[in-house]
Formats: sequence, C-alpha cells, structure tokens
Amino acid sequence: MKIDGTAYRSIWPTADGRGAGIIDQTKLPHAFVTLELRSLEDAATAIRDMWVRGAPLIGATAAYGLAIALLDAADDATLDDAYSTLLATRPTAINLRWALDAARERLLPLPEAERRAAAWSFARELCDEDIALNHAIGRHGLEIIRDIAARKPAGEPVNILTHCNAGWLATVDWGTATSPIYQAHDEGIAVHVFVDETRPRNQGAGLTAWELGRHGVPHRLIVDNAGGHLMQRGEVDMVIVGTDRTTARGDVCNKIGTYLKALAAHDNGVPFYVALPSPTIDWTVTDGLRDIPIEERGEDEVTVIHGKLADGSVTKVRITPETTPAANPAFDVTPARLVTGLITERGICAASAEGLAGLFPERAAR
Ligand code: MRU
Repeated sequence: MKIDGTAYRSIWPTADGRGAGIIDQTKLPHAFVTLELRSLEDAATAIRDMWVRGAPLIGATAAYGLAIALLDAADDATLDDAYSTLLATRPTAINLRWALDAARERLLPLPEAERRAAAWSFARELCDEDIALNHAIGRHGLEIIRDIAARKPAGEPVNILTHCNAGWLATVDWGTATSPIYQAHDEGIAVHVFVDETRPRNQGAGLTAWELGRHGVPHRLIVDNAGGHLMQRGEVDMVIVGTDRTTARGDVCNKIGTYLKALAAHDNGVPFYVALPSPTIDWTVTDGLRDIPIEERGEDEVTVIHGKLADGSVTKVRITPETTPAANPAFDVTPARLVTGLITERGICAASAEGLAGLFPERAAR
C-alpha cells in the first residue's frame, strides 16, 4: 500500500541481497522508521520484540531470517539452529511454523551450495504469495461489503468494526481483514471503520488507524469496550478480524478481546467474519481452546503506555500503582459457533470442519 504516494511492502530484501528491510512498527504512528535485519538474532529479536508483528508478517520475517542465517554457512546444523531460534520467538501464530517448515522442506534435500540462493528465493516467493492470497481474500470479502451496501439507504456508509491490526502492516501487503475494506473503498463503496484501540499494545490505535488514514479510509478510533454498545444501537453492520491460528474445525485464535467482540456480535445479530490466508489454518488442531498455546507477554505492556507529548517527544507513562501486578494473555479463542464465515483466498465458508474441507479438500483429507 502507499505511504504518502510511495508504494511499500512491510518487508523487502535489501539492495545488497544480504538482509531484509522492515518498518519498525514499535515506532508507529509517531515516527516512520525503517530498519535492516542483518543477522539471525536481528530477525529473532524483530519478531520477539514486535518490531514486526501480525501472523503473516511473522512468517515472512522468519523466512528472511532463515535466509540470512544461511549466508555464512548452509549446513544442516546451521539450518536446524536457525529453525529452532526463529520458532521459539512467539508461540501463537501458526504462520511462523508453517513458513519455517516449508523452508526446511525445500532446503534440506538440496546440496549445501544451492541452499543460500534457494532460501532467498523461498522468502521472496513467500512474500509474493502472501500478497496474492490477501488480494484474493479482499475480492471475496468485497462481495459481502457490496451486499450490505446495497441494502443500506443511499449515501450511508457500511460500518465495519475491526480489532487489532490485521492490516497491510500485519502481512506483506493488503492485510487480511483490511483487504476487503481497501478494495471496497477503492471501488467507491462508502465504508467507515470503527477501530478498536486494542489494549495493551494498541495495535488498533497505533497501526490500523495509521494505515487506514494514510489510504484515506474513513475511520474512528473507539475504546475496546465500546463495540458492544455500538452494536446494540445498530451502528455496526459487520465485524471483520484477522487470526493468528484457526483450527481445522473453525475455532479462531486472535488478539485478546476478539472473543468479546464475537459474543457481542452474536447477541446483536451482527455478522462476524474472520479473514485468513490458508497458511493460518492449523490442520493438526481441532479444539482451539484446548490446543492453541496462548502467548503470555510482559506486565509492562499493561502497566505502562507509550505516547507522544505536546513537545513531540515520545515517552512511556506508568498507569498503575508501582506494585500492582498485571496479567497479559495476548490472544483468545473465539469458538466457531460465533463466527459467521471465514473469508479465505478460495472463497467464503462456514467456520466448521465441513466448511473448510469444502474449500481445501486436499488438506482436510490428510
Ligand atoms: O500480537 P500481534 O500484533 O502480532 O497480533 C496480531 C493479530 O492478532 C492479528 O489480528 C493477526 O495476526 C492477524 S494479521 C493478518
């Protein structure tokens, strides 16, 4: 997507072909800073400390991390070490394991001399594929928005609520939840997005609001607790969120707070859609509540917030008593029964084993 007229991806190979460029997402929305990942440790830190985040982008960063790790030595031990180091960075998004498994499967059978070039090709292809998948998700999701728009009084926008950042910053481009929104907006359909701030890290306030604003999509920021109230008043036409891991039966793991939005949507008859590329489906897991590891992050993310002062400087502020402990589960699981539909690159299906098997028969049959 474009930033002030210049097209960006969220990750790219550096000009010398020995590193990966990223946008430091910890600095947004107050500063647009790019960084270069030049070592395995850089890539692991970028994922762990969330310079990059979002399930598809975590996978893409891991693919580049592996390619960077093999620059000096491409033997099996180096490959295994890079695989394990990257896999240990964050536990919930399945795209990380998917990308690393696919890279290892491609590289291991090759002679060492061919592995470096193959690893870089793999990372580039993975990024191109991510963009194509997200674009296709947008085409399918656009149909839903178009239908809702057709039923609304002329001139009224389709009001869409989203949680966290499942935008282009969370993928290589387009985003998942935002892809239908961008495509509807670009086609001239009036859309308006309620952006959940998404405590504790404020991915909505800092990232989704920033990227929608840069693309000119009308939006308003709301506190995380406002969604239910807006739905009761009929002010939300649909919810679209992304996911970090969706089970083979359609349970959806996503940023903490997603489940509460699904409950409110269900109670108020608001359609609740989840947009996901197929690498986010974990075909090995059926029960999301039992089997998906939920990342627990540090207390500081809850007790301390970042913000910009009137003089332009960015600072951290503690919002609790010094001694108050905090719990910080980063994701929750929305049971399939609360999900209206899954928007994938192959079309829209019910959040169920049958629905997913209908779109991905080759995977479900395994
Ligand atoms: O902790 P984060 O910021 O990596 O969490 C991101 C999300 O929960 C996104 O909604 C999800 O990864 C989907 S991104 C297309």
